[in-house]
Amino acid sequence: MVKNILLTGGAGFIGTHIISVLVNKGLVPFVIDNFSNATPQALTNLERITGTPITYRNIDVNDTAALVVVMQEWRIDAVIHLAALKSVSESTTKPTLYYRNNVGGTVSLLEAMQKVGVHKVLFSSSATVYGAAAQLPLVESSPIGATNPYGHSKVMMEQVVLDQAHANPGFSYGILRYFNPIGAHPSGLIGENPNGVPNNIMPYIQKVAAGELTELPVYGTDYPTADGTGERDYIHIMDLAEGHALAIQHLLADNPSFVCNLGTGSPSSVLALINTFERVNNVKVPYAVKPRRAGDVACVYANTDYASQLLGFKAQFTLEDMCRDAWRFQANYVQGKLNG
Ligand code: UFG
Repeated sequence: MVKNILLTGGAGFIGTHIISVLVNKGLVPFVIDNFSNATPQALTNLERITGTPITYRNIDVNDTAALVVVMQEWRIDAVIHLAALKSVSESTTKPTLYYRNNVGGTVSLLEAMQKVGVHKVLFSSSATVYGAAAQLPLVESSPIGATNPYGHSKVMMEQVVLDQAHANPGFSYGILRYFNPIGAHPSGLIGENPNGVPNNIMPYIQKVAAGELTELPVYGTDYPTADGTGERDYIHIMDLAEGHALAIQHLLADNPSFVCNLGTGSPSSVLALINTFERVNNVKVPYAVKPRRAGDVACVYANTDYASQLLGFKAQFTLEDMCRDAWRFQANYVQGKLNG
């Protein structure tokens, strides 16, 4: 039977890529988004990829009454909950905004789901919940210890989901802890295009390579890593999207709730990322060494065993693929092939 999936925050970088995979698997996506960090144009571009219209409405996830209406109207079977604010630095200056939006939004969604009898949710969490890791690679049972309001909000959102499941035996969840998703759909039609100066490294590299920003700040070359720069577990956005499709199918098949990492299991340094981007795309990414960024840690990467056992998930794409696809998307903007 056809399954209808609601994606909160579905017009964003992660949501649009997930939808491109869901449609291929015969699942039907429905989007709500408040377009605070996304545009309807991204959904139009996505329609060119999927060849099918995407149903969406401009709704904030905190609007419980509006959620109730659309979940009934669209006959939703399960929800992928992506809607959240995600800037670590902004969260340190506006903590209450982050708690209201992220934690409040999750409460609002779960209340609406309960009202209309939707019992399955896949929640977008983050490796940030592990904080400064004592032991690497990170396994799902590693201690939780976020270090900033954004991270705390993700820990709390996970807790709200766990408590709701505890109180309602028919309710099941999947919590996916992402490592560092980068890259873009191979068509170059959708990708990461944040408002303003990017916080994250790949969109920053893209804009430097395109000449929109002059140089990439490299935050710290004195970490205890091979080349002194921070190491992260970068995962191609299409792999992350495939992980979501497997996870939602797992929930739809009435399997028990789970918490699972989504990463590749291998870390890359900032300099390795810059060098790879320059090499595969034949472009220059000028950079300047800066002091460490507050709150950053030396190295973060996933143990991927559980994702493999539970979901049969294994990342397929290389760092080269991530760099090539990210640049294809950015270059389409430079060449005026995409709006916005
Ligand atoms: N970095 C730079 N220059 C930049 C931006 C980042 O050198 O302009 C470095 C950082 O110091 C770090 C690496 O690039 O070593 C990755 O930084 P990102 O900001 O891209 O990613 P983070 O690992 O800091 O954060 C990401 C997500 C968070 C999430 C976290 C979980 O953006 O939402 O992973 O580990 F919480």
